[in-house]
Amino acid sequence: MDKLIIFDTTLRDGEQAPGATLNEREKLEIARQLVTLGVDVIEAGFPISSRGDFNAVKLIASEVKGAVVCGLARAVSRDIDAAYQSTKMARGGCRIHVFLATSKIHMQYKLKKAEDEILRLAAESVRYAKKYTKDIEFSPEDASRTELGFLFKVVEAVIAAGATTVNIPDTVGYAFPEEYGALIRSIKENVPNIDQAVISAHCHNDLGLAVANSLAAVKNGARQAECTINGIGERAGNASLEEIVMNIKTRRDIFADVRTTINTREIHKASRLVSKLTGFVVAPNKAIVGLNAFRHESGIHQDGVIKKRQTYEIIVPEDVGFTGTGLVLGKHSGKHALEKRLQEMGIKLTENEISQAFEKFKELADKKKTIYEEDLAAIVEDQINKPTEIWQLESVVYSSGTDVTPQATIKLRFKGKVSVVSSTGDGPVDACYKAIEKITKICTKLLDYRIEAVTSGKDALGEVSIKVESGKKVAIGRGSSTDIIEASAKAFLNAINKLATTKKDSHGLRL
Ligand code: KIV
Ligand code: ZN
Repeated sequence: MDKLIIFDTTLRDGEQAPGATLNEREKLEIARQLVTLGVDVIEAGFPISSRGDFNAVKLIASEVKGAVVCGLARAVSRDIDAAYQSTKMARGGCRIHVFLATSKIHMQYKLKKAEDEILRLAAESVRYAKKYTKDIEFSPEDASRTELGFLFKVVEAVIAAGATTVNIPDTVGYAFPEEYGALIRSIKENVPNIDQAVISAHCHNDLGLAVANSLAAVKNGARQAECTINGIGERAGNASLEEIVMNIKTRRDIFADVRTTINTREIHKASRLVSKLTGFVVAPNKAIVGLNAFRHESGIHQDGVIKKRQTYEIIVPEDVGFTGTGLVLGKHSGKHALEKRLQEMGIKLTENEISQAFEKFKELADKKKTIYEEDLAAIVEDQINKPTEIWQLESVVYSSGTDVTPQATIKLRFKGKVSVVSSTGDGPVDACYKAIEKITKICTKLLDYRIEAVTSGKDALGEVSIKVESGKKVAIGRGSSTDIIEASAKAFLNAINKLATTKKDSHGLRL
C-alpha cells in the first residue's frame, strides 16, 4: 500500500489568509502540534518575505523534530539561499520548495516572460537549490490553467534538474475534480521521467472543491497532498487536512491502495489550536472539526444513535479526538485529579504550571458548578500560554446600564508598581480598553472582537478573542472568564503584552 505524504502548509499558505498573523512563538506551538499529529512535511514559511518569517522558519527547524521542514522560494537565488539558511538545521530533513508560474496569464501579465525563459528559469533554480539539499519540490504555479504541452515540458525539465516532488497547484481553485484528476493522470502518462518524482496536489477552495480535487488527484496517482488545518489559506482557503485524511481513513473501499500516517486522535486539538492562535473561528457545521460535527439534534437521529451509533455516525468522534462535553471535574477535585485529566487531554505541564492551573481551576470551580474539558483547555491557554507579562491585570471594576455612562476602573501591575485608571466609554468593554490604553500608553485600533461561550449553560466561561493593530503591528489576544468584561480586558491585555514584546512584524511580501 502506498503512503500519502501529508504536506502541511498551515504556517505558509494558511498564514497568508487575510488577517491570520502568527508570531514566532505561536508558529512554533502549531509546528509542535503538527508533529504530534504526524504530518510528514511542515511548510514553515516563506523565509525571504520578511525577517520575521525567516526567524520563525529557523526556530521551527531548530526546535522541532519528527517532520521535514520546508521553506518556500521564488525561482531566484536569494530566495533559495534564504529557504536553505532557515531550514538547514532541521533534524527531520530540510526541503526547498521553488515555485514559478507557468500559465499564459501569469507569464504574460505578472512575470512578463516567454515560455523559453520560464523553462530555463525553472530548471536553473532547481539545479541551484540542489546544491543545498536532495529534497527539492517544484511548483508550476497556476498549473491547472497551464497549457498542457508546456506543463509536461516544465515538469520533465525540473525533474531532470533534480526535483524530487512536483506539485501541481490549482492556485485559483478553478479546477473540477474529474478535470484535476485527469490532469494528474496525464502528467503520469506523458512525462517520461515522472517515476523519479512524487506528484503532489495543492488545491484552493474558491469553488468549494479543494478537498474533492485533492482526493481526485490521489485517486489518479498523486502521493502527496498539500493542505492546512481547518482549511485556512489565501482567499477561500486551502484543502483541509482533516477532511482529506478522514476521507482516506473512512472510505477504505475507495482508497484501498493508500494510507496516511496521521494520528487522527490529534485532529481536534490541532484544529482548536489553529483556531485560537489565528482568531479564525471554525464554523459549527464544518466537517470533522465543527462543534456540531458529532451532535445529533433531531429525536429520530438521537434514538438511532442510542440504538446503534453507526446509524447516523460514519466517524467515531473519539477517532478525531472529539471527546464531547462530558463532566470532568468538580469543586472537590484535587490537584492530582486535575493533573491526570490534563494528561488524558494530552496537555503536559511543569509542576509550577500545574500549581498555577490548579489555582485557576479552584477559582473557576467556585463560580461554576460543572467544569468541562473545554474549561480546562481554556484555563491552560489563558494561564500558561501567555506572552511575557509586562502588564498584569490586578482587577477590573465597571458599571454600565441603560441610563448610565459606562465606566471602568482598571488596576494593572507593571514591574511591581500598581497603576489604577478609570475611563468612560461607549460600553463597558470600550471603557476598559480606554483605561488600559491610558496606563500602557499603547494606542490600538480594534480590528476584530469575538466572544464565544466555552461550554453551554448560564455559568459558562466566556472566551474573548480580539485582533488589534498598533502602527504596523497586529496582535491577537485571548482571555476567558465567567465575567465577559473581565474576559475582554484579559484578551486586550494579552494583545497589548504581545505588541510590547514583538520587535517588528513582516513586511508582507505576498505571492
Ligand atoms: O497556490 C499556489 O500556487 C501556491 C504555490 C506557491 C505552491 O501556494
Ligand atoms: Zn497555494
